[in-house]
Amino acid sequence: MALVPYVENPLPALSKLHSASAQFRFADHELRLSQDWKKLGVAAVVWDAAVVMCMYLELGEVELKGKAVIELGAGTGLVGIVAALLGAAVTITDRQPALEFLSANVKANLPPDTRGSASVSELSWGQGLDLYPAGGFDLVLGADIVYLEDTFAPLLRTLEHLCSDATAVLLACKIRYARDTDFLGMLRQRFAVEEAHYDQQRDIHIYKAWKLPPREDL
Ligand SMILES: C[S@@+](CC[C@H](N)C(=O)[O-])C[C@H]1O[C@@H](n2cnc3c(N)ncnc32)[C@H](O)[C@@H]1O
Repeated sequence: MALVPYVENPLPALSKLHSASAQFRFADHELRLSQDWKKLGVAAVVWDAAVVMCMYLELGEVELKGKAVIELGAGTGLVGIVAALLGAAVTITDRQPALEFLSANVKANLPPDTRGSASVSELSWGQGLDLYPAGGFDLVLGADIVYLEDTFAPLLRTLEHLCSDATAVLLACKIRYARDTDFLGMLRQRFAVEEAHYDQQRDIHIYKAWKLPPREDL
């Protein structure tokens, strides 16, 4: 009988999620993000949407230098780290259970002179929003955060709270199920939405959105 070594996940696209780390080069820095799928699941692996978002940020089409940025559902923190390296002051957020792992990745990947530009804090969508300044950010970032139907309404409330009419929202999305587009429909009720970028290889869309003025008929 042939000896077949145990392979946790033989599909390359999924096995990368089971690696203990993922490496990238963005903003002239070598980045190494720790991953721990078994312990923390989706929050502790780098998703393609985050990689495509970082590639998009590097293109320079969105001004980051000196801007106040908040990242939602940051997971390992790759996007927030790259935004900080590109000159933004970034609040990197996720749910409480993800924060210790997230903080360690942020600390490990930002040089000491940039660490002051990034802070990690809890933001569970729709909850405790008063802790964050209403309309207080220039840019809101989210990579692969549109995937749980139950969170669509609180996620939209969170965006409405964080955005002024001058705030840009960038969402990097993998559309896996028809319901994912429901969120885009909800977003279009309150925000002007356009597709800013599409990565064909990874099938990731980047949507850019701005808050619409309040409707007088509501
Ligand atoms: C698919 S992962 C994406 C992680 C990271 N942005 C990336 O692309 O690599 C989804 C992230 O959303 C976070 N998340 C899910 N539901 C949330 C909620 N209700 N409030 C805040 N974050 C949430 C998860 O903890 C997780 O980090």
